[in-house]
Amino acid sequence: MKILITGGAGFIGSNIAGYFLNAGENYEVKVVDNLTTGRVENITPFLDDSRFEFIQDTVTNKATMETLIQWCDHCYHLAAPVGVKFIMDNPVLSVLDNIRGIDTVLEFVNKYKKRVLIASTSETYGKSLDLLDASHTRKLKESDYRVEGSTKNHRWAYANTKSLDEFLSFAYYKEFGTEVVIARFFNTVGPRQLSQYGMVIPNFVKGALEGKEIRVFGTGEQLRSFMHVNDAVRAVTQLMLTGKGVGEEFNIGNPFEISMNDLAQKIIEKTGSTAQIVHIPYEVAYGPGFEDMDRRTADITKLCDTLGYTIAYDLDDILSDIISYHRTTQA
Ligand SMILES: NC(=O)c1ccc[n+]([C@@H]2O[C@H](COP(=O)([O-])OP(=O)(O)OC[C@H]3O[C@@H](n4cnc5c(N)ncnc54)[C@H](O)[C@@H]3O)[C@@H](O)[C@H]2O)c1
Repeated sequence: MKILITGGAGFIGSNIAGYFLNAGENYEVKVVDNLTTGRVENITPFLDDSRFEFIQDTVTNKATMETLIQWCDHCYHLAAPVGVKFIMDNPVLSVLDNIRGIDTVLEFVNKYKKRVLIASTSETYGKSLDLLDASHTRKLKESDYRVEGSTKNHRWAYANTKSLDEFLSFAYYKEFGTEVVIARFFNTVGPRQLSQYGMVIPNFVKGALEGKEIRVFGTGEQLRSFMHVNDAVRAVTQLMLTGKGVGEEFNIGNPFEISMNDLAQKIIEKTGSTAQIVHIPYEVAYGPGFEDMDRRTADITKLCDTLGYTIAYDLDDILSDIISYHRTTQA
């Protein structure tokens, strides 16, 4: 089977590449990535494997993408501008690359009748839980309303371009029967994830290991959930390989939630760090008017029922993995 991964030099994409190359001789993998936030180091272990090829290019290059999609059986479309800091610093690119990328990928997977996984995000729900669930008890279901902020606040652009990715994917599915699978990733974490684009756990772990400070944005009472990348890869590959995900959207996340203050404290304890927790207002971190949601936690009943899926890694496993990675590298 031939697997194409856009954004495959990134964190999740390189883990999908590794999953298939380790799964046996039956898989060939090609990765296309322009290395904006991805790194060659993520795919270095695969470069000597004759079943692997890296193409350094943008997913918006139609000629490259037509050739690659024609070649593959399944495409995993993960290429996108990623990370709150990167998005805020690159407002035009972050809208255009997402829209032009999905347009290109869907055009050719439809033309050549290939199956595609589209990487969406829990950000598409926006402030849904904060504004529609006053009791703060339930978790986000796939069918929930999306509650996004003002278009003047660029923070919401990422969520909205990803929602547009989903709309266009479902449009192709309805009109042409294109085999699309939508994966709404919640915070996906693990070894190899970089701290520099604003990802919370690598930043906290880095701060703890340096023993200086852990910078918590806002009050730190906001609740988030984290899924180990191995659990996420197992979920999306099974949705694709079994075909059970076709024409559907799935939350890919962990239903367990924790506040950022408790997360920082847990990381301090697990690393034995002397670092102090420092609260930084959102406006200072990301500029005036920045806003965030209080809760963003996945209900994964649909994923579990569809695949008979269970989560393998709890938060302690996740943190142990990431801490040991950061102790031995300069990520
Ligand atoms: N990691 C998470 O917690 C998370 C959560 C929600 C959604 N997602 C989605 O999952 C996907 C992968 O995210 P990740 O965490 O691995 O981030 P990542 O930054 O490590 O991977 C994204 C990859 O896309 C590449 N890329 C960006 N623009 C490109 C372009 N125009 N052409 C080719 N390559 C391009 C980057 O260089 C990078 O390698 C993204 O679509 C992201 O929106 C991730």
